Amino acid sequence: MSTTSTVDFLHKPGPTSLAELKVTTPTTVVIFGATGDLTARKLLPAFFQLWSQKLLPDALSIVGVARRPFPDNAFRDMMHEAIVKYADAGTVSAEQWQAFASHVHYQQVEFDDPAGYAALARRLEEIETAQGTSCQRLFYLATAPSFFLDIIENLGQVGLIRDAKDRCPSRVIIEKPFGHDLASALQLNRDITRILAEEQIYRIDHYLGKETVLNILSFRFGNAIFETLFNSRHVDHVQITVAESIGMEGRRGAFYETAGALRDVVQNHGLQLLCLAAMEPPAVLTSKGIHDEKVKVLQSLRIMEPSQVARDVVRGQYVAGSTVDGQHVPAYRSEEGVQPRSTTETYVALRLYIDNWRWAGVPFYLRTGKRLPQRVTEIAVQFKQPPLHFFTTVECIGDVCDISQAKPNQLVFRIQPDEGISLIFSAKRPGMLFQIHPVQMDFLYNRSFKVKIPEAYERLLLDALRGDSTLFMRSDEVETAWRYVDPILQAWRAQGAPPLHFYEAGTWGPQDADRLMDNGRSWRTPAV
Ligand code: BG6
Repeated sequence: MSTTSTVDFLHKPGPTSLAELKVTTPTTVVIFGATGDLTARKLLPAFFQLWSQKLLPDALSIVGVARRPFPDNAFRDMMHEAIVKYADAGTVSAEQWQAFASHVHYQQVEFDDPAGYAALARRLEEIETAQGTSCQRLFYLATAPSFFLDIIENLGQVGLIRDAKDRCPSRVIIEKPFGHDLASALQLNRDITRILAEEQIYRIDHYLGKETVLNILSFRFGNAIFETLFNSRHVDHVQITVAESIGMEGRRGAFYETAGALRDVVQNHGLQLLCLAAMEPPAVLTSKGIHDEKVKVLQSLRIMEPSQVARDVVRGQYVAGSTVDGQHVPAYRSEEGVQPRSTTETYVALRLYIDNWRWAGVPFYLRTGKRLPQRVTEIAVQFKQPPLHFFTTVECIGDVCDISQAKPNQLVFRIQPDEGISLIFSAKRPGMLFQIHPVQMDFLYNRSFKVKIPEAYERLLLDALRGDSTLFMRSDEVETAWRYVDPILQAWRAQGAPPLHFYEAGTWGPQDADRLMDNGRSWRTPAV
């Protein structure tokens, strides 16, 4: 298998067995930020799962890099604990762990100290020599964003970045956030492309590795019956919800103060979901084909003037309240690391318009928030009503049925949890009267497929090792997303900015978000 060319993973006919996905190239993975939460919760467990499924090469080294000094063994113990806790198997046998642990190493480096990188280069040589061989190197930047450039520059300085065209290339995965506004994202892209070619840069958005997110494309372009309805002639509006019940657990308050919901979720996960729901089918199902179509959606987003921000965007922040399990939780302003008079938004709802041929005039509603009643991500496509209402609609709560408004058809992509797709339509209610009743047809992953859904990071890490960047973000994608978000951030900073609304923890956000729903529309309450 070539390691230098882009693998068109989604191109027909595609691999037919897991064995075809196995990475055979001798590989060294270097994780910067190895003592952080992401490495313990996601990265090492994902590598372990891939390794258990025999998808990684035998000649594999994983080198954790961070600022604290640790002997290899102490790092391995820490990672063992993490894998037992977070890897799906839960049944990591001593034998399995021993075998995997022999691939894991640790090296202390101060991220801004060139001498540390020289030592890292020597250590990699040693490890690779002991391993007998090495070829490709994958660097994972799981550090604070302020270190991204330092790390890449230093890696370049000590000759650790091998050319994209090399038989044994180096690739770099960069965690989000990629920039904190348009100017910083443009600058970061300019700076890192002095050292890396675009095909070596893997900007990660873990939502793109979620099975159900990928299924949006399979569903739309793998079936004939729905795609013809996905346009302004048939769709009334689309609602995208990325709701979380968590607050600032894991001492995230200090980071979140610099981000807020718009930067943390809308600019990346939210707009990526919107792209997949709205994009055109690519001419060819290649990485470039898909990226090009996503960029076109982002380019068609109607940029907001400050007055439109006031009209079409609602921001909120949670105050103390009770979560679904009845636990009392503090206000955002009382969380560790948060300013007592913080105006950071923990909730945002937007009405967006995609000014292109397919979607002209169809509002897309996107909301995300912390401390909402449940963790749920879904995309609901609501269709237009039939031209005439012949029948009376009845809805029942328990045994009590009442005449209600006609219910429009909805197609709901449930991204998480209870992954699946539901179609809501009306059926005749049994009996002498001609009444209709909304009913639901469900496809549920765990009922239809008896296989485990892979973790997003497993897929994305495997793709990066195979040189497939389809599910990573291209530079113009990140920049165009910021181009849309930037005017909103600016309007919020300006004199006379629209207010921040407060909502009680455990509710669906500020009531003001309801005013975005005009023309008789309303926010969906996702099923529990
Ligand atoms: C991250 C955000 O990108 O995504 C977090 O920084 C958020 O604030 C998380 O909690 C949500 O991811 P998931 O996979 O749990 O939906």
